[in-house]
Amino acid sequence: MKFFIDTANLDQIREAQALGVLDGVTTNPSLMAKEGITGRNNILKHYVDICSIVDGDVSAEVIATDFDGMVKEGEELADLHEQIVVKVPMIKDGVKALKYFGDKGIRTNCTLVFSPGQALLAAKAGATYVSPFIGRLDDISTDGLNLIGEIRHIYDNYAFETQILAASVRHTMHVIDCAKFGADVMTGPLSSIEGLLKHPLTDIGLEKFLADYKKGN
Ligand code: E4P
Repeated sequence: MKFFIDTANLDQIREAQALGVLDGVTTNPSLMAKEGITGRNNILKHYVDICSIVDGDVSAEVIATDFDGMVKEGEELADLHEQIVVKVPMIKDGVKALKYFGDKGIRTNCTLVFSPGQALLAAKAGATYVSPFIGRLDDISTDGLNLIGEIRHIYDNYAFETQILAASVRHTMHVIDCAKFGADVMTGPLSSIEGLLKHPLTDIGLEKFLADYKKGN
């Protein structure tokens, strides 16, 4: 399973990259705003900065919601850097844009996916990645992980190449469950990745090993 980090914070991206297990970055307009990145030129520069840190795909989201606007913005984003993946919302014009970008060899991430039907449409349109938002489903008492399982089943039935990018991952248990359910990628905060490290028996065991070494040296 690939690990993406879901942030526009350059320090956190650097930290995740330094760990050696990072495969990419996802951003969205809210994450960019959180970092105070505003204005078209600053936003474009920030995407290039992210690409220079990480070895892997960097999702950059279009703001337009009409086909022509998405195509114009998406082509501009894709021209920025070879690592850019154009993030397109799951709306009618978005589906048309996914097909258009796919035919032009521009990689895409279909975002804001909340149902198996939406995921099927995204795959039919040739999306490179589909992003089911599991945390936001959990937020409304709907099982987000179940959606990952349903999409996995559908994609495997027809050998769709679209990769399931489990998004809106909030914590470490989500990461583990996404791996069990066969997600191709997960994107979450740095804490969800670093949480995988932790086990009290590891800490206790290491403390004992070091104490025993000190006794004899
Ligand atoms: C996905 O690409 C989105 O950026 C993200 O995972 C949304 O997560 P949230 O629901 O925690 O905002």
